Amino acid sequence: METEKAILGRRSVRDYVDKKVPDDAVRQLLSAGAMAPSAMDAQPCRFIVITNRDKINELSDKVKARLGAFGFGARMLERMKVKEDVIFYGAPLLIFIVADEGDWAPIDCALAAQNMMLRAYGMGLGSCFIGFATALRDDRDTLRSIGIKDSQKLYCPLIFGYPKKWPEPKSREPTVQKTVD
Ligand SMILES: Cc1cc2nc3c(=O)[nH]c(=O)nc-3n(C[C@H](O)[C@H](O)[C@H](O)COP(=O)(O)O)c2cc1C
Repeated sequence: METEKAILGRRSVRDYVDKKVPDDAVRQLLSAGAMAPSAMDAQPCRFIVITNRDKINELSDKVKARLGAFGFGARMLERMKVKEDVIFYGAPLLIFIVADEGDWAPIDCALAAQNMMLRAYGMGLGSCFIGFATALRDDRDTLRSIGIKDSQKLYCPLIFGYPKKWPEPKSREPTVQKTVD
């Protein structure tokens, strides 16, 4: 897919078909992440790949339980009191991008994340960045249970899968604050 088409067409997907993402597609997503630029070519990103439905549901419940400490208001917390997976939207694939803490690490991970979301779109897969899931960042037991080391920080939780319906592409105008010629 052309880069322009991917950039203009990608939208966050929040409703997924119950269908596994094939291993080869997962590998292609990971390669897209690995190909992102990183400060001093340090390549700090590590990828935690989660496809186990019970684990995804468990993580979703843990995120819901922690959103209060994350500073969310009463209305949002009320909306989270449901059995459904309103955090990861039933996606069949979670990829958490983690790295040892460092000045550039969040930027390096975010660049990898965008590469992966664009690559996903090019492959017919939906995606969404799930910032809510960073509410797990101080829950070291849970992070350890999915292979995240104590020296690492959870920067970019992502979901992928086949969309039930594609959101309409959206246009956005850049806000140029000032042009200095
Ligand atoms: C850092 C970051 C955190 C986000 N966290 C969430 C989230 O927790 N849940 C969610 O449904 N969407 C989340 N999103 C998706 C945004 O809501 C979405 O990108 C935005 O509304 C623009 O829509 P688009 O991606 O379809 O263009 C997040 C996006 C970013 C970049």
